[in-house]
Amino acid sequence: MASAQTLEIVKATVPVLEEHGTAITTVFYKNMFNGHPELLDIFNETNQKLGRQQTALAMTVLAAAKHLENLATLLPQVTQISHKHRALQILPEHYPIVGTHLIGAIKEVLGEAANDDIINAWTEAYDEIASVFIQVEHGMYEQEMWQGFAPFKITEKVEAATDIAAFTVVPVNADSANNKPIDLSKLKLSAGQYITVKTDPTDSDHIALRHYSLFSANSDKGIQFAVRRDNRNEHNGLVSNYLHDQLAVGDTVLLSAPAGDFELTQDLVEQNDMPLVLVSAGVGVTPILSMLEAQVAANPKRPIVWVYACQNQEHHAFNNKVNALLETAENVEKHIFYFESGQILDEAWLANLPKPADIYVCGSMPFMESIIDALVSLDHGVDSVHYEPFGPKMSLELA
Ligand SMILES: Cc1cc2nc3c(=O)[nH]c(=O)nc-3n(C[C@H](O)[C@H](O)[C@H](O)COP(=O)(O)OP(=O)(O)OC[C@H]3O[C@@H](n4cnc5c(N)ncnc54)[C@H](O)[C@@H]3O)c2cc1C
Ligand code: HEM
Repeated sequence: MASAQTLEIVKATVPVLEEHGTAITTVFYKNMFNGHPELLDIFNETNQKLGRQQTALAMTVLAAAKHLENLATLLPQVTQISHKHRALQILPEHYPIVGTHLIGAIKEVLGEAANDDIINAWTEAYDEIASVFIQVEHGMYEQEMWQGFAPFKITEKVEAATDIAAFTVVPVNADSANNKPIDLSKLKLSAGQYITVKTDPTDSDHIALRHYSLFSANSDKGIQFAVRRDNRNEHNGLVSNYLHDQLAVGDTVLLSAPAGDFELTQDLVEQNDMPLVLVSAGVGVTPILSMLEAQVAANPKRPIVWVYACQNQEHHAFNNKVNALLETAENVEKHIFYFESGQILDEAWLANLPKPADIYVCGSMPFMESIIDALVSLDHGVDSVHYEPFGPKMSLELA
C-alpha cells in the first residue's frame, strides 16, 4: 500500500502529467525502443509509425494512479487490457523495462519540476499498478490453453466475401517441442474470443502480432478466423495482406491461445423472453457470427434480431452460413444494410429494436460509436450494450 505522502504527490501531479501526455509518451517509446529494440517485435509497428494508440499505455498508468488507494476498483478494466497482454505474451520481466522508461520520460519532460519526491512517488505508484497487472496476467497464463505461440497448419482458406479470407487451422503437434500437444477436441473456445497471430512479414524488419476474432467457437474442424485485407489511406496493412497473399493451405502460422472477454451473457442464453440483438458491419461480423452459432446451439427458442451492414452484396460476409444458422432458430428477424445502395442504419431505425434486449455490436470504430451513442440515447442501458473494437478498447470508453 502506497504511503500517504506518495498518494498526495501522485494525485497532485496527475493533471500536469496528463497535460504533457503526448510528450511523455513520445520520449518513453523512443528511449524504450533504443534501449530494448527486441520490443519492436511485440509492439505494433504501424501504430508506432503513425503515432496511433501510443498514449493508451501511459495514459492508463496515469488514470490508474488516481485510484492508487483502491486499485481493486479497476479490476474490470485491468482484466480487459490483460487479456490483450496475455495474448501478446507480455511477461512480468517486461514491466520494469516499461517502468524505468516511463519514469525516465516523466523526468526528461518535466525537467527540474520533477524533484526526487515526485520521481520516488511515481516509481512507487507504477510498481503498485504493475503488480496488479502482473498478478491478473499470472492467473491468465495459468489458465491459457497452450503456452506461447504454437504452430498451426492452414487446412482451409476460402473467400468469405470480397477481401475477406476465412482460415481454418489445426495444431502441428509434432513441432511443439515446448508445448504439450494441443488436443483440438479438448479445446473450450468461447464465442466472441480472438486468437493472436505471430508473423514475420517480408515487408517489415520486425515480427508482427495481430488479433483476429474466431468466427466459430466450434473446434470440430479446427480454429477458424477471418481476415479482411486492410488497405486504407493508400497504404497496405502489413499482416492482413501477408495472410492474404503469402499464406496458403499447407503453410504454418503461429498462434497464441484464445483470449478476450467479449462473450454472451450466459444467464440470458436460456431465457426466451430476453431478445438477443446482434449488430455488425464488414469483417466485424466474425465474433458476432460465433455468438449467433453458440446461441442457436444452446437455445434456438430465444428471439434473435440479426443486423448486418456492409458496402454491397460482394462485401456481404458469411451470408450463407448466417442464413443456415438463422433457419435453425425459431424466432428470427434479419436486416441487411448496403451502404452503397443508400441503406442507412441510424437512430430512427434502431428505435424499432426490442427493449429490453441484450445487444452485441462489432464493426469499425465510427460504426460502433454511432450505434452505441444511438442505443444509449434510446435508453438501452450501458450494461445491455456490449461491443468489441478491432483496436484499443480504452478509446471508446474514454469517449
Ligand atoms: C480484439 C480484436 C479482434 C480483431 N478481429 C479481427 C477480425 O476478426 N478480422 C479482421 O480482419 N481484423 C480483426 N482485427 C484487426 C486486426 O487485428 C488488424 O488490426 C488488422 O488486420 C490490420 O492489421 P494490418 O497489419 O493488416 O494493418 P496495419 O499495418 O496494422 O495497418 C493498419 C491500418 O493503417 C493503414 N496504414 C498503414 N500504414 C499507413 C501509413 N503509413 N499511413 C496511413 N495509413 C497507414 C493500413 O492501410 C491499415 O488500414 C481485430 C483487432 C482486435 C483488437
Ligand atoms: C502498468 C503497465 C501497463 C499498462 C497500464 C498498460 C496499458 C495498456 C493499454 C491500455 C493498452 C491498450 C489495450 C487495448 O488494445 O485495448 C495496452 C496495449 C499494449 N501493451 Fe500494455 N500496459 C502496461 C504494460 C505493458 C508492458 C510491460 C508491455 C510490454 C513491454 C506492454 C505492451 C503492450 C502492447 C504490445 C500493447 C498493444 C498495443 C500496440 O502494439 O501498439 N504493456 N497496454
